[in-house]
Amino acid sequence: MGVPGTGGCGADRATAAIDRDRLVAEAQAVRRFARAPYSGFAVGAALLCADGAVYRGCNVETASYGLTCCAERVALFKAVSEGARDFKAIAVVAASSAPPSPCGACRQVLAEFCPGLLVIAATPAGARREWRIEELLPDAFRLEPRGQ
Ligand code: THU
Repeated sequence: MGVPGTGGCGADRATAAIDRDRLVAEAQAVRRFARAPYSGFAVGAALLCADGAVYRGCNVETASYGLTCCAERVALFKAVSEGARDFKAIAVVAASSAPPSPCGACRQVLAEFCPGLLVIAATPAGARREWRIEELLPDAFRLEPRGQ
């Protein structure tokens, strides 16, 4: 069962049927839109919804560094702002030496919107790792929803 007010997410849903190659390819493709003039580190993310829709995001940096938004949150906020609430998996791709596991802020946000989310990290060179979001962020902070 999902967190109240966040819609039913796929904690108990089988992940065997997820097309990981396709999701990683979408995340890789969207890296070309990354705005990363300060770090030079382009990240792409692709979020798979229960209905098969995929929302993509890249990192967006600004001169005030702390206002940067990671690729994962861009993808998630795009999806939520289009009415999507039920997510199965997210792929994240960056040209790092090891597959890029999401930062702490993104883990917190992903954990709230989708308990059980499958997180796939990959590099363009073909390295891959995957986790459930609870493995990346055990005991995530939660607040009882009061309204919308
Ligand atoms: N970044 C992401 O897009 N996702 C993460 O999970 C970690 C970091 C971005 C933020 C920044 O633009 C660049 O990578 C370097 O930190």
